[in-house]
Amino acid sequence: MWKRLPLRFRLFLPTIGLLAATLLFGIFALEIFSPDQFENESEDAAGLVRTVTKGLNEALAVAENPEPTLEAFAAGIGSGDAIRYRKADVSVSRPKIRLSTDGVPGWFVSLLRIPNLSTAHPIVVGEKHVGDILFVPDLTPDLNEKWLGFLAIVLSGSALLVLAAVSAYLTTTLALRPLEQLGAGLARMQQGDYDSTIPLLGPPEIRKSCEEANQLARKLKRLAQDNRSMLRKLVSLQDDEREEIAKELHDELGPLLFAIRANAIALSGYSTDPDPEAPSNQLLEAAGAVQQASRRILEGLSPLYLEELGLEKSIETLLQNAHAALPSVATSAEVDPRLDSLDHLMSQTIYRVIQEAITNVIKHAQATTLSVVAAMRDSAVTIEVSDDGIGFSDNVLLGRGLTGMSDRSRALDGKLDLLREDGRTVVRCWLPLAGARAD
Ligand SMILES: Nc1ncnc2c1ncn2[C@@H]1O[C@H](COP(=O)(O)OP(=O)(O)OP(=O)(O)O)[C@@H](O)[C@H]1O
Ligand SMILES: [Mg+2]
Repeated sequence: MWKRLPLRFRLFLPTIGLLAATLLFGIFALEIFSPDQFENESEDAAGLVRTVTKGLNEALAVAENPEPTLEAFAAGIGSGDAIRYRKADVSVSRPKIRLSTDGVPGWFVSLLRIPNLSTAHPIVVGEKHVGDILFVPDLTPDLNEKWLGFLAIVLSGSALLVLAAVSAYLTTTLALRPLEQLGAGLARMQQGDYDSTIPLLGPPEIRKSCEEANQLARKLKRLAQDNRSMLRKLVSLQDDEREEIAKELHDELGPLLFAIRANAIALSGYSTDPDPEAPSNQLLEAAGAVQQASRRILEGLSPLYLEELGLEKSIETLLQNAHAALPSVATSAEVDPRLDSLDHLMSQTIYRVIQEAITNVIKHAQATTLSVVAAMRDSAVTIEVSDDGIGFSDNVLLGRGLTGMSDRSRALDGKLDLLREDGRTVVRCWLPLAGARAD
């Protein structure tokens, strides 16, 4: 939960916690200290009542005729709210404080634990308790004062919280924007885009990271270029070597095979034996098979007709050979004629990728249809070889074929994808035209 919380909220939460703690502490303090506060606030008046009571009792003690003095006092004090006189025979119960809770919520009143601060002070004439001076304080103003104080704390705390939230939001937005740009830059790098630099924004720590990421991009770009040119060298060395082997095979084996086949024909001409099992006929058949095998190997080693026939025709030939090898597979091709105008490296790559993909379909796919589409659009060549066979297994191991296809396309800054779309296995290769001109 905490891990998934955005930074803005992480900064915001402690502020909320702080405010909640302040409120709780305030409530706790109110509950603990408010009874004493109420008492302190009415202490002056209570003291005055005690003094008046003492004075009256002393005056009554020395008065010759205390009754009129008391009556005059009672009349003088009147039936005031806070201090009043009560005859002894009226009631003996302790008076209640005056408190109006209008406008103050009940939970707040009960939180305060308001003490009963009213007091009754006995008035004595001779030995007789004739009445009491009552002190009945009005705690309403104190209560209202405390409620307003509490409201002020809550409101100023909330205002503080909003301010802290706004400032946390702005600060994190300002600090996060460069971080987001750094992240986007790293993601671009991961996809092989090393050219767009990350802007140097924000605090120095983040600017330094952006600068380092830009340096990394420059280094990766150089490495990718080195890697590409190495691959290109490797691929063209491989092609040169294959061409060399093909030439040797053709020049050395070609005439010998031709001679064997010619002699076998001559031998079978002399023989009158029509039996196909006859040695001369078998020799002729074997010579023909070796010649065909040699042609197939030569074709695999070096695409003999690519230069002469062009890509379109060469691919058609590949498909015809595939159909001949596995007649149950129906083949189709759609090759952009503009591909014939491409340079040697590009057409060699296209041809090899298609050749290997077709070979794989014949070898592994158990397909009934095989289609090749090679098109040129948006300054790139797209090759797609698809079949309706069993598809790639989950734990497919790359052999020489797919590795070679991938190396060849990467050497030209392209990419190779193996997909399963609409029930068909698709080998898709994308080659940018600029890739062949690079380096
Ligand atoms: N069209 C396809 N349909 C199903 N599986 C395929 C297809 N193409 C390739 N594969 C699978 O991918 C694997 C790797 O192919 P890759 O061409 O790299 O090697 P290979 O054909 O086994 O051997 P080689 O090195 O002779 O090419 C194959 O063994 C096969 O299992
Ligand atoms: Mg293969």
